[in-house]
Amino acid sequence: MRGVILAGGRGTRLGDTTRVVNKHLLPVYDRPMIYYPIATLRAMGCTDILIVTGGEQVGGFAQLLGSGFTYRVQEQPDGIAGALALAEGYVDGVFPVVLGDNYFSAAPGMPTGATIYTHATDRPQAFGIYDPHANVIIEKPKDPASDLAVTGLYVYDAQVFDVIRKLTPSARGELEITDVNNTYLWDSRMAVRQIPGVWSDMGTPDSLLTAALHAKETAHAA
Ligand code: G1P
Repeated sequence: MRGVILAGGRGTRLGDTTRVVNKHLLPVYDRPMIYYPIATLRAMGCTDILIVTGGEQVGGFAQLLGSGFTYRVQEQPDGIAGALALAEGYVDGVFPVVLGDNYFSAAPGMPTGATIYTHATDRPQAFGIYDPHANVIIEKPKDPASDLAVTGLYVYDAQVFDVIRKLTPSARGELEITDVNNTYLWDSRMAVRQIPGVWSDMGTPDSLLTAALHAKETAHAA
């Protein structure tokens, strides 16, 4: 099975640590960040992985990971859904997608259809939040309807590329993954599952530390 890692973005929330080094290459305890989403996809059954990243950054990934991966370059910073559009023609059937900065202590089994994974958060304003009553996701809500963050692990089918083609850019000029997921939810074509274990987005100093501490515990337990 083929899977996709979306590893673009400038990592501005991590300040000077990502001015020179790509966020996804930063150490998370004893390994570069990108090793964790790779492990998640492998645990879901992926044997082939596409990494989508920005043009200036692709060299670092290739140097680290070598030729066992496929790389595609996101020329414009046009959002997570814009990056996902570049996977068309690479994937086939139902496939998993993970954001390059998402840490999961355990991967779910591969589902048979489109799925999003939620996890409780104490920072609901920082994520896409799933409202189970309205069956809709609100991106970074001021007044969150629940504490169910939509994590950066998604499973899509081939129709996702048609959904992305119909999107219009959000107020910040990006094609939003939340708009993709809401289209699937409205059409009752997407399952919503809670993912057990530890989840951290590694996008801020504190969430990066949370992941590193958990990785250390796990490494010592192994
Ligand atoms: C993105 C998504 C958001 C999701 C989060 C998970 O946010 O837009 O819905 O909850 O990833 O990490 P970003 O990290 O780009 O702000």
